[in-house]
Amino acid sequence: MPDYDAIIIGAGAAGLHCAAFAAATGKRVLVLDHAKQTGKKILISGGGRCNFTNLYAAPENYLSDNPHFCKSALARYTQWDFIDLVSRYGIAYHEKTLGQLFCDDSAKQIVNMLVSECTNVGAEISLRTEIIGVDYQQGQYRINTSKGEFRSTNLVVACGGLSMPKLGATPLGYQLAEQFGHSITPVRAALVPFTLHDQDKQAFAELSGVSIPVTASANDGSFHEAMLFTHRGVSGPAMLQISSYWQPGEALTVNLLPSDDISEAIKQGQQQQPKAQLGSLLQQYFPKRLVQALADYWQWPLQQRLADCSNELINSVHDNLHQWQLKPNGTEGYRTAEVTLGGVNVNEISSKTMESTLQSGLYFIGEVMDVTGWLGGYNFQWAWASGYAAGTAL
Ligand code: FDA
Repeated sequence: MPDYDAIIIGAGAAGLHCAAFAAATGKRVLVLDHAKQTGKKILISGGGRCNFTNLYAAPENYLSDNPHFCKSALARYTQWDFIDLVSRYGIAYHEKTLGQLFCDDSAKQIVNMLVSECTNVGAEISLRTEIIGVDYQQGQYRINTSKGEFRSTNLVVACGGLSMPKLGATPLGYQLAEQFGHSITPVRAALVPFTLHDQDKQAFAELSGVSIPVTASANDGSFHEAMLFTHRGVSGPAMLQISSYWQPGEALTVNLLPSDDISEAIKQGQQQQPKAQLGSLLQQYFPKRLVQALADYWQWPLQQRLADCSNELINSVHDNLHQWQLKPNGTEGYRTAEVTLGGVNVNEISSKTMESTLQSGLYFIGEVMDVTGWLGGYNFQWAWASGYAAGTAL
């Protein structure tokens, strides 16, 4: 007789949520984690206030090799289910923007809630537990750890992706998947700031801290949010979002003035204030130092009177501003990425239960799988939904 019905590797968002649902049906559940604390990513998420879900979470907000995979789990455990749980614990929250829900007080409340949900139903949590190896013999998983061997009928892999190794991220989830015959959809850092080539970096170095609303597009992604210049390159929600759609070597299309048409504005200015300079018109839309940096970059004659601006100049200012082809050097990588794109191939997992279709009793939940949400609470919603799907199926 194995020690446990289910062992879950990873006491993060998905693992804790799964443990609570599994133990609630009387299952003997053990959660193992090498970290000193539960839910470390939850604690630092959302600037310490945890953007725990999104009012508008829907399958369209997720990237995966199989975009249909996430539908069933998201429909069976929705944002409203998690909001209900948060409300039952009396955790105050607010919508910041675009349906993003944050704790009023602290992300600790979410971790405390998840741990209470586990301990209330008898799920055990063992921290500071290194996983040495896993094998499967005679219908049992044997987990060899720094605290000895544990045996279980089912094994749930909830050890997340590769982002932020400083917080304890490791490739264990992918290694276990491969050990049991699964393939891995190629992984890379996502929701991550871009770095720029030296020439562009120098051109915009002075702008570190300047943020403006833009529309950033790449492949079939397009986001209208803020872009922030940093001392390494460009960041802010628009850039983090589009990083999930961008492929290395490609250019992004950035519209620096999505709310107006600059050629119309210049032509109107030619009628109404012909003696005004191009620079002062542009300053009606952008901070002065951004106008100067863009003018240096694209060689705009800022002193030119509007009356003297040729159609050729107007067209080039228009194309520069509305269709900037910005070619990043790369991204800041896993060091600062919020998530890992790609992961365990979802075509080898049941979308109803999260159980492997290759190996009986083996489950994958959360970020380790090839399901990646947009910025804005979507990744936690996937952790809750996939954790629930496995927790109620075990
Ligand atoms: P998660 O990473 O939460 O948990 C994995 C667990 O496995 C960890 O406890 C880890 O210690 C453990 N583990 C890993 N390797 C192990 C090993 N070898 N042995 C034992 N244990 C091991 N999302 C969102 O929706 N809203 C937000 O506000 C944010 N904010 C945010 C900020 C920052 C800075 C980051 C890095 C990420 C976010 N995210 C986010 C993303 C979100 O944190 C992430 O998608 C979920 O935490 C994924 O949940 P999982 O349970 O799958 O992994």
